[in-house]
Amino acid sequence: MNSAKRTDGTIVKVSGPLVVAQGLAGTKMYEMVRVGKMGLFGEVIEIRGNRFSIQVYEETEGIGPGEPVAPTGAPLTVELGPGLIGSIFDGVQRPLDRLRTKYGDFVVRGAAAPPLDREKRWHFVPRKKVGDRVSAGDIIGVIPETHIVEHRVMIPPGWGGSIKSISERDLTIEETVAVIAGEEGGEKELTLLQRWPVRSPRPVRRRLSPVAPLVTGQRVLDMLFPIAKGGTACVPGPFGSGKTVVQHQLAKWADAELIVYVGCGERGNEMTEVLIEFPELIDPRSGRPLIERTILVANTSNMPVAAREASVFTGITMAEYYRDMGYSVALMADSTSRWAEAMREMSGRLEEMPGEEGYPAYLSSRMASFYERAGRVICEAAEEREGSLSVIGAVSPPGGDLSEPVVQATLRVVKVFWSLDDKLAGQRHFPAINWLSSYSLYQELVDRYANEKINPHWAKNRQEAMAILKRESELEELVRLVGMDALSVQDRLLLEAAKMIREDFLHQNAYDAVDTYTSLLKQFKLLQVILAFYHWAYQAITVGVEINDLLSLPARGEISRAKNIPEEKVRAIDELRERIRSSIEALKLTGEAMGQKV
Ligand SMILES: Nc1ncnc2c1ncn2[C@@H]1O[C@H](COP(=O)(O)OP(=O)(O)OP(=O)(O)O)[C@@H](O)[C@H]1O
Ligand SMILES: [Mg+2]
Repeated sequence: MNSAKRTDGTIVKVSGPLVVAQGLAGTKMYEMVRVGKMGLFGEVIEIRGNRFSIQVYEETEGIGPGEPVAPTGAPLTVELGPGLIGSIFDGVQRPLDRLRTKYGDFVVRGAAAPPLDREKRWHFVPRKKVGDRVSAGDIIGVIPETHIVEHRVMIPPGWGGSIKSISERDLTIEETVAVIAGEEGGEKELTLLQRWPVRSPRPVRRRLSPVAPLVTGQRVLDMLFPIAKGGTACVPGPFGSGKTVVQHQLAKWADAELIVYVGCGERGNEMTEVLIEFPELIDPRSGRPLIERTILVANTSNMPVAAREASVFTGITMAEYYRDMGYSVALMADSTSRWAEAMREMSGRLEEMPGEEGYPAYLSSRMASFYERAGRVICEAAEEREGSLSVIGAVSPPGGDLSEPVVQATLRVVKVFWSLDDKLAGQRHFPAINWLSSYSLYQELVDRYANEKINPHWAKNRQEAMAILKRESELEELVRLVGMDALSVQDRLLLEAAKMIREDFLHQNAYDAVDTYTSLLKQFKLLQVILAFYHWAYQAITVGVEINDLLSLPARGEISRAKNIPEEKVRAIDELRERIRSSIEALKLTGEAMGQKV
C-alpha cells in the first residue's frame, strides 16, 4: 500500500496482549502486522528505536521469542460495501457468523476470513450514466441491501472524473461496477468493495448543529433528557442498574435508519440476546425484522482485550459509511469502560507514565476521538445530502462512582447524561434513570421541535413535570424531619402528582409488548392527563373538596393503566381526561350542595 520498504521482524518478548519485536524496518505507527507462526493480527502502538510494541488482537498464548512478525503495510482497515447489514463481526471485523461455519464455534487464531462475502451477487441499478462527471461522495447507483436499507454506492473520498462505463447488472463486490476516467488522465475501476482506516474519521463537507430528536420511545429519555439526531449521550451506572437494557431498547426502537451495536468487553450472553431477539423483532415503521437495519460488532469479555479499542473504531467507521449515504445512523457501545480498561492494561505493559487511577494520560483525548465522530453533517458529495450519526456509550464505573476518570472523560465530550441509579434499580423503578442528576443539552432544540410537531404545550408540560419532581425531593426532606402532618393539603397533592409522574409515566417496562415503546404523541398525552388531574384536583381542593375523595376517584386508577393503551387507541387517553374532568366537577358540585345544606 505504501512504497517504503519493509522488512520482517522477530519477536523478542510476549507480555499478554503485548508483543515486542525488532527488525520491522519501515513499519510505522498503527500499522497492522501478522505476529508469530500463526499470523495473529496485531497493531503497532509504540516504536522506540528498533523496538516495536504491538498490541495483538488475538490470544497470544503459545507464541514466543524468535518467531517472525510480518508487516502488512496498512493500518487497521475495515471493508465497506453491501453485506455489512445483518452481519455480526468481531472487533477487527472478522465475520463471526461465517467463521463459525468455516471453523466451528471457536474462532481459530490467525483465521482470515474476509469481512464481506466474496461470492454473493448484488443487483446494481445505476443512478448515473456514461459521460456523467462525478466527484467524491456522489452516488452512482443503488443496491437493495436489505428490504429496509438501500445501499448507495458512492465515489470514494479522493476520487473523481467522468464515468466511462456503468450498467445495470448483478455483480460481486470485487467486480468492477464502474470505470472512472480521472481529470488528469488515467482510469480507475470502482468496485462495490471499498476500504477505510478505522482511526481516521471519514471526510464530510460541513458539520451542522442537530435540529431533531432521536426518538427512542423511552418516556424518561424523550420527555426529560432527549438526545438529538447526531448527538452524543452516555449511560453510566453501577452493576446491574440497567445500562444494557437501555442500550438494547435504543437499538430496537430509536428512529435511526441504521443501527450499529458494539458489544465491548461485556458478557457474551448479552450479545446472544440481541442475536436471538433482533431477527424476530419487527420494526414498527417498516414492518421488517430489526436485524435488517442492524450491524453487530461483538468483542465480548472472553475475547482478547486489545481488540476492544478496535471494536469501537471498527463500529464507528461502518456507521460513518452509512451516514455518508445520507442516513441517520445510531451507534451504541456497551461498555466504553471495558475499552478504557484495555487502554489501561496496554499502557501499563508499555510502562507509560500512568495518569489518574492508572489510566493513560491520553484517556480523555482517545475517548473524545471516538465521540467526536458523531454529528449531523452535509456529506461530502456534489449534491446537498444530509446524514447524521448519534453515539451512545454505556459506562460502568466501579461501585457506581461518577467521579472516576472514565465517567469524567466521557462527560467532557457528550451532551446527554443518563445517570442510572442503584436505589431506583433496587426499587425496581426502570429505567432507573435519576431525574434529578441526569441532564440533556439538547432540551431546548427538542422542545422547539416537539412544540411544533406534537403539541404547543410540550415544553411547558415537561417543565412543570420537572418542577413537581424537584419539589417532591424537597418535600421528602421536610417530611423526614417533621413528618407528613406538617404538609399542607396542596403539598400532599403535589406528592401524589409526583408519584403519578414517576410510576405512571417515567416507569417503563422494557419487556411489556405495549409499554416497551411510546410515541411522542402518546408520551405527551400520558403526561398531560397526569398534569390535568393535578390541576383540577388543586382547584377542587381550594373550593373545599376533600383530598381523599379526589385520590380515590376511579378515573384516577385508570391513569395508572393508561400507559398500556395501544398506540392506535391513543385517543382513549383524551377520553380518560374528559372523565377525570367531569368526575372532579361532580365532586365539586356535591361539595357545594353539602355546603348549602349546612
Ligand atoms: N426498562 C426495564 N424494564 C424492565 N426491567 C429492566 C429494565 N431495565 C433494567 N431492567 C432489569 O434490570 C436487570 C439488569 O439490567 P442490565 O443487565 O441492563 O444492567 P447493566 O447495568 O447492564 O448491568 P452490568 O453492570 O452487569 O452490565 C435486567 O435484567 C432487568 O431485569
Ligand atoms: Mg450490562
